[in-house]
Amino acid sequence: MTYKTVDLRSDTVTQPTPAMRAAMADAPVGDDVFGDDPTVNALQQRLAGMLGFEAALLVPTGTQSNLCGLLAHCQRGDEYIVGQMAHTYRWEGGGAAVLGSVQPQPLNHQADGTLALDDIEAAIKPDDAHHARTRLLTLENTFGGQLLPFDYVVAATELAARRGLSRHLDGARLFNAAVVQASQVAEKNITNQAAGQYQKAPLATSNVAIAVSDKAAAAGRDAADTAVVPSLADIHAEARRMAQCFDSVSVCLSKGLGAPVGSVLCGSRNGRRRHAPGRHSGCGRAVCAGPPYRAAGR
Ligand SMILES: Cc1ncc(COP(=O)(O)O)c(C=O)c1O
Repeated sequence: MTYKTVDLRSDTVTQPTPAMRAAMADAPVGDDVFGDDPTVNALQQRLAGMLGFEAALLVPTGTQSNLCGLLAHCQRGDEYIVGQMAHTYRWEGGGAAVLGSVQPQPLNHQADGTLALDDIEAAIKPDDAHHARTRLLTLENTFGGQLLPFDYVVAATELAARRGLSRHLDGARLFNAAVVQASQVAEKNITNQAAGQYQKAPLATSNVAIAVSDKAAAAGRDAADTAVVPSLADIHAEARRMAQCFDSVSVCLSKGLGAPVGSVLCGSRNGRRRHAPGRHSGCGRAVCAGPPYRAAGR
């Protein structure tokens, strides 16, 4: 009998599958500094398109991607509002302060990982030369393995926009969040349908969910008891719906997805132009970067 060991220390220890390794070996490559690496270009366009942004920038790590995001929104002497336990505050070596002279304004989390709206509001500094200029709200989703409630994400990011702040999402595990959110949306639709209140959902309900619901109805069971598996299209739609609440989003390819390295920062074309040089000054030049990133497409 053969035993397979599942390494649960972290979702970062996943390794590329044979198909991913073959894709890396076959990947067309070019000099990325000249924009000549077709694999990197395709990956950037794919992520930007999927999440509804103008542009994307591939960098080696999530830490660097977040840093590029923070520095795209904040200048020297600015500050960003962030959770005490957020990766962008606690686990990134103080990079924004060290490299960008940008001050963090950490806030305590609520039990569900959110930052209270009143706390955010109270942390925004008045326009006064004594204060750092509050420029940015940074959230993390998933946070500590939990999905932030979508209504909360909308409320917090709308508050930030109303107060003139930019919004950055550390979406290292955005697609994990999207799976949970898509399941919740599908379950809600099924429950409403079963109760005869089904309205046209803002998101197309997955075929899987409809099939599950029909089966449950035929069996006379409570549809809410039935596990729902969202379709890939619904997962992508939820990832985009979450991402679109923000001005920039960082997504990691190396967490649970099997890619050896790589994170993608999605945002505006202008932000990308300002921070493409940071990729090189921060972590060295990424010449012929294609092969490892090709794995992310698998
Ligand atoms: C939420 C979150 N953001 C960012 C990062 C940073 O990613 P990296 O280790 O690639 O720098 C991590 C790393 O685990 C993370 O958990």
